[in-house]
Amino acid sequence: MNEPQPHLYTDLAPWFHLLTDPADYAPGAAHAIDVLTEAIGEAPTTILELGSGGGNNAFHMKARATLTLTDLSPEMLALSRTINPECEHIEGDMRTLRLEERAFDAVFCHDAVSYLTNEPDLRAAFETAVAHLRPGGAALFEPDHVRETYADATDHGGHDSATPGDLRSLRYLQWRWDPDPTDTWYLDEFAYLLRDTDGTLTSAIDRHTLGLFPRASWIGLLTDVGFVDVRSVGTGYDDGDVGAEGFLARVRS
Ligand SMILES: C[S@@+](CC[C@H](N)C(=O)[O-])C[C@H]1O[C@@H](n2cnc3c(N)ncnc32)[C@H](O)[C@@H]1O
Repeated sequence: MNEPQPHLYTDLAPWFHLLTDPADYAPGAAHAIDVLTEAIGEAPTTILELGSGGGNNAFHMKARATLTLTDLSPEMLALSRTINPECEHIEGDMRTLRLEERAFDAVFCHDAVSYLTNEPDLRAAFETAVAHLRPGGAALFEPDHVRETYADATDHGGHDSATPGDLRSLRYLQWRWDPDPTDTWYLDEFAYLLRDTDGTLTSAIDRHTLGLFPRASWIGLLTDVGFVDVRSVGTGYDDGDVGAEGFLARVRS
């Protein structure tokens, strides 16, 4: 990483599911498998996920395929194991990960790809995908934003834990802005309020530096590394804002 990892993926990782609830990922996970199936010509039985985070997508996708989950953060992998104990978890950077002799039907990378903030890093992640696909396999990348539809915004939310015995709650304020529209990154800044099981209230602020590329960069770089049939697709989240557009590509049979 060029930037330090956000607190949300290190010391605050145990709170991640209270910021974004795994239950809310069912439509996006189903849509991802559907478009990968269309690209491959049959349903994928093995999927490598890059930047699998809290395992929220995997929680739903694992009913339809065998998932190998990889992430830069050991703390996020530990969190994912709590809801996906049956899945293989591997620590690794999507830019350099190489699982020798492993070829998957599909590679999936959701919002984690947004943490790549320059074109060489994006290209490296695409090369990782190509290196782990069997002939005819497909990859799907779903960034939070593309340059053409990006807009500054604020948001808020959070959840109360539904786990018996866990009385924690989290609420957040999110503030997205782009200091320089001529470069390839923007900022997502957060204030978290964290109420612990014993009622103790603490707060934290967190800065996420995220990549912002035009569609032509996504499609051009995917094509450069050897993908074919590269195209923009929807994601199953059609609110027109975060994560509404993905990039689907296939390697030759
Ligand atoms: C928003 S979370 C992903 C959540 C995921 N979509 C889910 O379903 O739970 C973003 C993740 O990207 C990971 N990440 C950031 N940069 C990465 C990199 N270069 N390689 C692998 N993972 C990375 C972070 O550690 C974090 O877990």
